[in-house]
Amino acid sequence: MARLRKIKLKRRLKRFILFSVLICILILMGYKAFLYYKYTTTDEYKLIDKGYEKDTVELFFDKLSDQNLEFIYEEDKIDYLKEIVKQEFFIEERFKEYLEFYKENGKKSFEDVVTLVNVGATKDWYEDAIITDISKNELVLVNKFYRLPEDYNPGVIKKFSSTYAYGEVSAEETCYNAFIEMATAAKKDGITLILTSGYRTYASQKAVYDDFKRKKGEDYADEYAARPGHSEHETGLALDIFTYNGLMETFKTTPTYAWLKEHAKEYGFIERYKEGEDYMTGYAPEAWHYRYVGVDVAMKMESMGMTYDEYYAFYIDR
Ligand code: DAL
Ligand code: ZN
Repeated sequence: MARLRKIKLKRRLKRFILFSVLICILILMGYKAFLYYKYTTTDEYKLIDKGYEKDTVELFFDKLSDQNLEFIYEEDKIDYLKEIVKQEFFIEERFKEYLEFYKENGKKSFEDVVTLVNVGATKDWYEDAIITDISKNELVLVNKFYRLPEDYNPGVIKKFSSTYAYGEVSAEETCYNAFIEMATAAKKDGITLILTSGYRTYASQKAVYDDFKRKKGEDYADEYAARPGHSEHETGLALDIFTYNGLMETFKTTPTYAWLKEHAKEYGFIERYKEGEDYMTGYAPEAWHYRYVGVDVAMKMESMGMTYDEYYAFYIDR
């Protein structure tokens, strides 16, 4: 009798354990379903559901504002989005411009799309030019899209002695001092730096441009000279540096150019219009045109190998 009761008790216990395990499994499954349901309401799920990879979603979250994410949630998957967003010099605020420009110019590389949008060269030169922000002082950007205000005051302008210049050449004070320091250092290395041009007023820039235009036509003039209001020379921060009897055509082959290439940055100068960069700068290469931007920026830029137009868009104008 006692044995029968024991067997019954055992059976009951077994059933109870089985039932409890079943309940636990059901609760666990319910909880998992609940978690999954919650996940399906997240932004991450929305994007993965569209077909984006998890690392792409992370990239979007990291780089894009809510407003731009909203745009992605509403669109079907766009394959090239990731390629644009991951570019080193991607600027969030210009996201839609990149997309537009890429759509119109599908053959351009993603790097070029970002670069051209950043520097504004998606338009014709001088189209929709704006007044530049002169509060940036020696970091002011002056190019075919950024012009100086009509009443621009370059500050203190100092004239170079004939030791440093052919004819009348002057520059803004900080740039002037930096050049003297650089020319003195060059001299110690047996290199003579001679200036042919520095600060120009609006009127003198107009004369330079008009002269090119009269002699060689507008296209040529636009390749080598800025239109008045658009020249760095009007800021007093640009210098045309040569050597004695230096010719424009051969300047790049001189020891003077080699010295500048190595040392100009140490004094805050950058070679402004390099070969192969005219699609960003708007000018044919000018191995003699140096722009003063200060030592920190010049050193940083040199190691990055970028134009000042790109640098300004990414590091200064934001
Ligand atoms: N030659 C340069 C581009 C200027 O005229 O400012
Ligand atoms: Zn110049």
